[in-house]
Amino acid sequence: MNSVDHSTDLWTPSRIIDADRRHVWHPYAPRRAAAGNLPVASASGTRLELADGRTVIDGMSSWWAACHGHGHPHLRDAAHRQIDRMSHVMFGGLTHRPAAELAERLTAFAYRPGLTGEPLTSVFFSDSGSVAVEVAMKMALQYQRGVGRPDRTRFLTWRGGYHGDTQGPMGVCDPDGGMHALWAGVLTPQVFVPAPPPRGSTPDTVADYLARMRAVVEENDVAAVIVEPVVQGAGGMRFHDHAVVTGLRRVCDETGALLILDEIATGFGRTGDDLVGTAAGVVPDILCLGKALTGGFLSFAATLSTDRVAAAVDAGAGALMHGPTFMGNPLACAVALAALDLVESGYWRDRVPRIAGLLHRGLAPLQDVPGVTDVRVLGAIGVVETVDAVDTAAVTAALVDRGVWLRPFGRLVYTMPPFTCTDDEIAQITGAVREAVGA
Ligand SMILES: Cc1ncc(COP(=O)(O)O)c(C=O)c1O
Repeated sequence: MNSVDHSTDLWTPSRIIDADRRHVWHPYAPRRAAAGNLPVASASGTRLELADGRTVIDGMSSWWAACHGHGHPHLRDAAHRQIDRMSHVMFGGLTHRPAAELAERLTAFAYRPGLTGEPLTSVFFSDSGSVAVEVAMKMALQYQRGVGRPDRTRFLTWRGGYHGDTQGPMGVCDPDGGMHALWAGVLTPQVFVPAPPPRGSTPDTVADYLARMRAVVEENDVAAVIVEPVVQGAGGMRFHDHAVVTGLRRVCDETGALLILDEIATGFGRTGDDLVGTAAGVVPDILCLGKALTGGFLSFAATLSTDRVAAAVDAGAGALMHGPTFMGNPLACAVALAALDLVESGYWRDRVPRIAGLLHRGLAPLQDVPGVTDVRVLGAIGVVETVDAVDTAAVTAALVDRGVWLRPFGRLVYTMPPFTCTDDEIAQITGAVREAVGA
């Protein structure tokens, strides 16, 4: 066999960039633009070590996922232990302790008595957030068939949302401003209402909004309402009040539509709560989790449902018609169990509000800078919105020069740093943003 030399020393940064440019797609980017991608050699704690030797703080937690920092020893130990035993087996006809234990713990995590809604008792494990949303949508459709309402086939959502890049989720992403406007006319048309009233709106505004939403649910054959609660992420980094989510639970209860909360970005502490649904006092009928589920270690996701939903699904088609190859992957389940240990330890409960305060203090001066329209902070999420689209390449380069990795998009420069960042690291992030945006 011809041997290929994969020794790392031949793979200089320029060779990586060259091969990457010739062969590799990157998210939402033309292939030949890949020269702009920075090679990373390793990731540890809050830092990425670039192949050219520079170090940057991962102010994105690698897209919300690495909330406990990279390579956390507790997650690494769990991965090593599991990989020595069994990294993957098919899930059809087989099961294993990591999946069973994780399902038991996730259902306990997602529900506590006193919340409005039923306990979430069934878990479908998949390999990415988009698939978790696909599964949630399928569950809702099968539920409506199972309870004798097969005409309820549409999903209602609000504008400005983002739920992933596969076919079903794309149909409930923002239809105009989002990344999927390209697919108008191809996607199944869903039902859209205006974006939710922003955080701090009056109770009357929230009540009017919910009343209008209820009317739209009643006028259409809505199987489920699907939303990102409290934080609309990739669709614009906008925040709304928990009261909107509490009210949505009521709208769904009164109309027979299911409530799907997509907490793939918000789950596991990012906003200062375990889950924002819980903080709003409600449990959805279907809950999507991902990203920080494994502390950013591996791609993995889960869709949880109530017994009522699961029973109707079974009563209808006899089973939930989905079954990915890597469903219930034992390695991912074992790491997710370890990540849940970290979440349940609660170490972040003081850290996240402290990070919120530091982000607020560090970013607030930008409010008075010409060209900045808004600065907002919620939990460990800081957002600067500008009048004009950000020059992503220039701002990214300016941030990297200051030791910070962020990925601005559209008119947004934003950060959701690991909870393990020190105060100095948060100050470094906000200082870099002030200088890069100010310039
Ligand atoms: C709220 C939300 N839902 C779904 C997804 C899709 O997850 P994935 O990228 O793992 O498919 C994302 C990803 O950013 C998200 O933020």
